[in-house]
Amino acid sequence: MMSLWKKIVYPSIAISDDKLSRHLAGKWVVVTGATSGIGEALTLRLIHAKANLYLIARNEQKLIDLCHQAKENGCEACYDVIDLRQREQLDTLCGALRERFPAVSYLFCNAGKSINRTINDSIDRMHDFDRTMDLNYRSMVALSLALMPALRKAKGRIVYTSSVSSRYPFIPGWSAYHASKCAANAWCRTARREYKQLGVKVQIAYMPLVHTPMSDVNERYKNMPAYSADEAACILLRLAMSGKFCYKPWWAI
Ligand SMILES: NC(=O)c1ccc[n+]([C@@H]2O[C@H](COP(=O)([O-])OP(=O)(O)OC[C@H]3O[C@@H](n4cnc5c(N)ncnc54)[C@H](OP(=O)(O)O)[C@@H]3O)[C@@H](O)[C@H]2O)c1
Repeated sequence: MMSLWKKIVYPSIAISDDKLSRHLAGKWVVVTGATSGIGEALTLRLIHAKANLYLIARNEQKLIDLCHQAKENGCEACYDVIDLRQREQLDTLCGALRERFPAVSYLFCNAGKSINRTINDSIDRMHDFDRTMDLNYRSMVALSLALMPALRKAKGRIVYTSSVSSRYPFIPGWSAYHASKCAANAWCRTARREYKQLGVKVQIAYMPLVHTPMSDVNERYKNMPAYSADEAACILLRLAMSGKFCYKPWWAI
């Protein structure tokens, strides 16, 4: 019964290695949140496709390992360790990035954090709202602005990992997460129209449930059918290679 439910609600997503290599080999791709879950699975697919990688996250050992793996496979690879919630650090990084890459074909803005806490339980926790906003929204905008010249040069794409839950009536307990995801959605929808003239495409993946360290913290979600991190990576890659503005599951109205 569970596997039938999985097949219907989360139909399998595949992508051919040949197609990925054709689109990505030798191109510069930026991935935020590359060290875990969806971002890590995406990075492994990109390594296999021989893309050149610039990776961003906090876990340095994981970044070193991924870059090592990429170089062993013939890709160029580099990384920066940064807490994307720290505005000063991010501003410094963005200043340096303006000059660093001549051309970037894909910017996957994927780093994110969810918080499950009711507003009433957040009375002394304004930082929950600041942190989700800084990570899920502000860092995406800052990196998009900093990399815009390089994205224009490559006629590149910005791909944002949003959540399908941001398209539905909001469930109590997720106000900080939903507000930050909706802010990012709104920015992407506007940027999509403005950047069209510049040759840069902006895309949103309204991701359903995916089994990752983030979602599996929640016991209820851990046992529900969901996509794997690799399937979610395939969703991002298929979107990035398509002419569509967004991905959403077939059942999302
Ligand atoms: N899993 C789901 O069901 C689901 C559903 C819809 C949308 N999404 C979205 O998918 C994206 C990826 O989530 P995931 O499920 O793959 O989660 P995950 O396994 O927890 O991965 C999150 C990634 O973001 C990075 N990150 C977290 N805080 C950071 C910070 N302050 N500064 C820099 N990097 C930071 C983490 O790296 P470090 O810890 O090394 O910094 C990690 O690489 C998120 O935007 C999430 O909202 C997930």
